[in-house]
Amino acid sequence: MNISIFGLGYVGAVSLACLAREGHNVIGVDVDPAKLELIRGGRTPVVEEGMVELMAKVVASGRVVVTTDAGEALRNSEVSFICVGTPSASNGSQDQGAVLRLAREIGAELKRIDRVHTLAFRSTLVPGTVEDVLRPAIEEASGKKEGRDFHVCFQPEFLREGSSIRDYDNPPYTIVGANAEAPVQVLRRLFGHLPCDLHVTSVRSAEMIKYCCNNFHALKITFANETARLCEALGVDPFQVMDLVSRDTQLNISKAYLKPGFAFGGSCLPKDLRATLHLAKSHDVELPMHAGIIASNRAHLDHAIAKVLGTGKRRVGLVGLAFKTGTDDLRESPMVFLAEHLIGKGLTLAVYDPEVHLSSLLGANRRFIETHVPHLGALIASKLEDVAERSDVLVVGLNDKGTLEQLRRLLRPHHVVVSLVDIGDTSGLAGTHAGLCW
Ligand SMILES: NC(=O)c1ccc[n+]([C@@H]2O[C@H](COP(=O)([O-])OP(=O)(O)OC[C@H]3O[C@@H](n4cnc5c(N)ncnc54)[C@H](O)[C@@H]3O)[C@@H](O)[C@H]2O)c1
Repeated sequence: MNISIFGLGYVGAVSLACLAREGHNVIGVDVDPAKLELIRGGRTPVVEEGMVELMAKVVASGRVVVTTDAGEALRNSEVSFICVGTPSASNGSQDQGAVLRLAREIGAELKRIDRVHTLAFRSTLVPGTVEDVLRPAIEEASGKKEGRDFHVCFQPEFLREGSSIRDYDNPPYTIVGANAEAPVQVLRRLFGHLPCDLHVTSVRSAEMIKYCCNNFHALKITFANETARLCEALGVDPFQVMDLVSRDTQLNISKAYLKPGFAFGGSCLPKDLRATLHLAKSHDVELPMHAGIIASNRAHLDHAIAKVLGTGKRRVGLVGLAFKTGTDDLRESPMVFLAEHLIGKGLTLAVYDPEVHLSSLLGANRRFIETHVPHLGALIASKLEDVAERSDVLVVGLNDKGTLEQLRRLLRPHHVVVSLVDIGDTSGLAGTHAGLCW
């Protein structure tokens, strides 16, 4: 295939070398003549393992051309990868100056090109940039229509500096954010052979996934480092601790706990987090990320409260009261907190949880209700029907299959459903869905 690459930094130069290695003809475009000169001479503009040999080889093959002329590149290729830098502006926002200027330049050149061209953005871009900023800029400069005269898509780049050729050959997956099949087919032809899955998403999701991955990596590093600081103060070996934490692939390094839902609660996580913070404080160890977890959980609760109040309905039915599905444990349940807050706002409440029947609650749970929330006991109904009948808004805090099926049958057009957990397909709901997660 004939390919253009705009921006020959780490991402662009490695992509150029790897695509040329695979037999494609690649035209590299950069505004920096020094980089172009290096590549023309078969040398690499970035320091990366394997790049010296690879660049020399692909340039010698004659399949690599470099230029500052965007028009020349676009005229001689069918797909372009945009890999220019998107650094931080001084206020922390993303500086999109280079990519926006380039989009306008590409648009002006596309005006004179009759073939349908695919533009794959690979620079990291905040969600919405391709569809709301770059596509309109290209359409305005070219007078052409995306989806008909040219295609845009977003393909996040997952390579890491230092191991970028290896990462190019073994990505975790290929993600293509696109609104049409044509750009997906182009990228499938180029990357479909890689030993990983190719997922097609909306353009915005693809943009978001890149941020989410980077933020998750930063979170992991910070978690390990904060844990290590506390371990050091306690005389514990942080390497052994983190090594064994990482070896639990059921609960720790797994999909567990990574599904969006309601705030955490229960008898363990909140109290153990509080104890960790107290311990750290008593040893003069700062753990801002750990401390932030509690504030973030509270913000999630506040968001749910605002969502329920935002429906404007005064008769609320809570489906679920325990801190998670399948248990009757009410200790530090965010659903209990939510119930109390809504009562405090003067709303009428009815509560149903298949696992929580006041008559059968024992020990710590019963004591919890009697001492902490005695007024809640009177609101617990034994049948979901009663709750549905007495409510205009139904707040779903559990994803027990049987209860959800029953709820679907009981929904009436006046009901507004606020789901705090994944309740599956919401398209056929009789009432209005105002879910938190989607
Ligand atoms: N570096 C990484 O490991 C990595 C990994 C994944 C994603 N990304 C993202 O990819 C993008 C590129 O990152 P990078 O590290 O390769 O950047 P870089 O700064 O190394 O390279 C960007 C290149 O774009 C060129 N450029 C600027 N304006 C141009 C224009 N109008 N036309 C042609 N070229 C132009 C610059 O001269 C420079 O050579 C960024 O959005 C970054 O966030 C980087």
